[in-house]
Amino acid sequence: MDDPAVYYSNTGGEKQDATAVSVRSTTELFASDSQKKMNTRVVYGSLAALVIALIAVLIALIVVATSKNSNETSSSGSSAQGSCEDSNSYPWVVPDCSYAKTNLEKAHCVLDSYPLVDGHNDLPYRYRMFANNSVYNVDLTSDLRLTWDPNVSHTDIPKMRKGKLGAQFWADYVPCASNYKDAVRLSLEQLDVIKKYVARYPETFEFVTTAQGILDAFKDGKIGSLIGLEGGHSIDSSLGTLRMFYTLGVRYMTVTHSCNVPWADNWLADTPDYNETLEGPKHDGLTAFGEKVILEMNRLGMLVDLSHVAKATMEDALRISKAPVIYSHSSAFEYCNHYRNVQDSVLRLTKENGGVVMVNFYDKYINCEPNLKDTPTLSQVADHIEYIKNLIGVDYVGIGADYDGVPSVPVGLEDTSTYPALFAELIKRGWNEENLQKLAGRNLIRVFKQAEKVSDEMGHLPPYEDIQPQKVSNPDDLPCRTDF
Ligand SMILES: *[C@@H]1O[C@H](CO)[C@@H](O)[C@H](O)[C@H]1NC(C)=O
Ligand SMILES: *[C@@H]1O[C@H](CO)[C@@H](O)[C@H](O)[C@H]1NC(C)=O
Ligand SMILES: *[C@@H]1O[C@H](CO)[C@@H](O)[C@H](O)[C@H]1NC(C)=O
Repeated sequence: MDDPAVYYSNTGGEKQDATAVSVRSTTELFASDSQKKMNTRVVYGSLAALVIALIAVLIALIVVATSKNSNETSSSGSSAQGSCEDSNSYPWVVPDCSYAKTNLEKAHCVLDSYPLVDGHNDLPYRYRMFANNSVYNVDLTSDLRLTWDPNVSHTDIPKMRKGKLGAQFWADYVPCASNYKDAVRLSLEQLDVIKKYVARYPETFEFVTTAQGILDAFKDGKIGSLIGLEGGHSIDSSLGTLRMFYTLGVRYMTVTHSCNVPWADNWLADTPDYNETLEGPKHDGLTAFGEKVILEMNRLGMLVDLSHVAKATMEDALRISKAPVIYSHSSAFEYCNHYRNVQDSVLRLTKENGGVVMVNFYDKYINCEPNLKDTPTLSQVADHIEYIKNLIGVDYVGIGADYDGVPSVPVGLEDTSTYPALFAELIKRGWNEENLQKLAGRNLIRVFKQAEKVSDEMGHLPPYEDIQPQKVSNPDDLPCRTDF
């Protein structure tokens, strides 16, 4: 969510059991006592026949399976997935897209070969804004621009399918106005909304919580759906709350939104607009408790998201984190000097850390000095991607469009149907299939798998039990809080 209007809203089937049914009706047929013995013999006879038939079916199945396996092994081998093979490499071969006549066809070919994983989409918050969080009163297969504000509505199922979206981190976002107040409850409600719409459209979405889950869902033709918690205010300075969000399926947390928390500074701390009265004194990055939050995320296997945080917070988190980090929706600062973007020195640290910067499409973050144009365009987003690739390499860049979270997007990237156009532009600029796969999802999957590995390695550690002393900047909020 990067809609400036909401930064300071302070003021503002049950299956029939066929066997059971048939057994019951057979028994009902044998009503008379005199017939029972004979009937018993008939039953034993049928049972024996049944057992023989079952054995025959079993043998037939084994024969079919064996011949199928040998077929696969003798063919190209590209679809032979041994159960102990490293599934990270299967079947994600770099495709041969040479048949494609146009750049767009080639883009489709690439996106059919590997999931495009978008780091950030604010559809859940639109359900709150426009539908009071009702999922069953909204038809996600219809064009929601006709019923919701068209400026901030970029997502529906036909568009996502047209855009070849492979997996999505849905943002569990609530405004900073809820900081120190009811952020936890509101965040739980947004998490519930995500689970509701994923469950309502099972032919489209599959709820996943692992890197492998993304790949498996894609193989099944589903949009893998993950949850990212957008802002440390949502855990209300509580590691227990953080752990329970993990248990509910949250797989990244953005360390702050556009407000400080008692243990970390947000990006506004880097700007002249920083209001100490409103935000309290700066922490100069992470506090000691903030460092424990990062370590607990590492221990859990929750990705550390550094979009929205201050530069000093990025630097501290990169120093502390044992796992690669992500920027779920941020672009390149040197190309467009907005403080929501990532500065060069931090990009270099991110390369060392092995993380991934998922480029945001928001006008304000992609079109500004020193590259300000009259009209923000798709080409500028491609420039951001190439800027990061050229500075630190193609292994550290991804996509985090921020659809449904921003009031304006560039010409050419109007909604979730337009991702292939961006890939076509990069193909025009000489990108090969392998690098396009990395941008689409390989980099994020690599980071996610590594974070899972770090979590496994930290598995022997007990949960962190540090406590953040209760301290709120606005004394007016104090009466809302229990005194322990
Ligand atoms: C949401 O609920 C409030 C309070 O009942 C109501 O005033 C508002 O019209 C509702 N909005 C929508 C979009 O249903
Ligand atoms: C959508 O954006 C346009 C251009 O900025 C603006 O004129 C219009 O009022 C916006 N619509 C809504 C419903 O906010
Ligand atoms: C800073 O925040 C305080 C408290 O909300 C407000 O009264 C004041 O006007 C703000 N200062 C500036 C310069 O915006």
